[in-house]
Amino acid sequence: MESAPGENRVAATPDTVKKFISFGCSVVVERGAGFAAGFVDGAFSTIGAELVNPGDSQAWGQADLLLCVQQPSAAALARLRPGALVVGLLAPYANSSLAATLQSGSLSAMALELLPRISRAQSADALSSQANIAGYKAVLLAAAALDRYFPMLMTAAGTVQPARVVVLGAGVAGLQAVATARRLGAVVYVSDIRPAVKEQVESLGARFIDPPEMEDKPAESGGYAKQASEAFLTAQRQQLSDQLAEADVAICTAQVPGRKAPRLISEDMLDRMRPGAVVVDLAVAQGGNCADTRPGETIDRKGVQLIGASDLPCSVPNHASALYARNLVALLEPVFKDGQLSLNIEDELISGCLISQDGVIRHNEVLSAGGSN
Ligand code: NAI
Repeated sequence: MESAPGENRVAATPDTVKKFISFGCSVVVERGAGFAAGFVDGAFSTIGAELVNPGDSQAWGQADLLLCVQQPSAAALARLRPGALVVGLLAPYANSSLAATLQSGSLSAMALELLPRISRAQSADALSSQANIAGYKAVLLAAAALDRYFPMLMTAAGTVQPARVVVLGAGVAGLQAVATARRLGAVVYVSDIRPAVKEQVESLGARFIDPPEMEDKPAESGGYAKQASEAFLTAQRQQLSDQLAEADVAICTAQVPGRKAPRLISEDMLDRMRPGAVVVDLAVAQGGNCADTRPGETIDRKGVQLIGASDLPCSVPNHASALYARNLVALLEPVFKDGQLSLNIEDELISGCLISQDGVIRHNEVLSAGGSN
């Protein structure tokens, strides 16, 4: 059962439990673990899972594999036997106690955030499955908070113009936000510093805002943006300021892996937005693309609603869990032989996300986030 505040998702569904049983595993599910995501205990037990009370020491002590969404507490992990494997979204670079906990329990761990983003890994890519949900839900939140319709409507009382939406960042969340806003009938403008996404944006019926023409354009590596210089960001803000002054909604998804999110909307730019406009900042937990947003809070700033959306996948827990649980099956299916776990660290998918093996930390960044080896 997940213990992080507000965490409604569950790491296994009846469908994926069935899969693990077919791999030769016996599966134990804590009572109530799936309830908040719409999966009742009976649905797990009828397909052969054993139900135990949350924190059952015997079940934890005998487990070879622990599936979780977020990291359980250090006290809970201490119940696992040495050598057990923990798999989840473990926030490896942000969690100062993770390395010490894994070391002291001699635990192995796979952090899904570190799965290499290569084609073969797509079915296991939990960052993408969850970002997709966040992009979708961000637009629904904006539509619910906006003082206008999204679509163009021709009514007996005259024509209503469509809402104008600006999406900052066209990664997985941004592209889903574009698609959702388009489905609702908005006119959508998109800014990204990777020119490669222009075609994807246009294929969704949105307009791409070309990045500023400057000599020190931010580089790109492995499909990811690298950090832009302050001069570039200043030019980009100038370019976006007029767009935002005309916008009804801004959806902020711009991120640079391992860095603070770029600040793309300043206070001055917010001052130019009309009262009634809405900004949803999905980058808020990484420092925010927009000035004045705060994680988990909605702020009325001179009539502009600022929504600091840090945990949107938890607000769609049934599908978020179903997709996350399938990601885990896709990642782990190849490592089972007759119900026994066998990790091939020559495989770049395993090697990329295996942060600890029997308590030996394999990624220096995890150590620098907290522990020592
Ligand atoms: P992300 O969450 O790290 O960043 C979101 C977006 O923000 C990116 O498109 C980035 O270019 C953009 N951005 C950064 N700085 C910006 C700025 N100053 N202004 C505007 N936009 C800015 O990215 P995400 O969603 O994790 O995916 C990024 C890329 O990773 C994908 O487009 C793709 O190339 C690759 N990918 C590959 C997968 C696979 O092959 N398994 C799965 C998912 C993504």
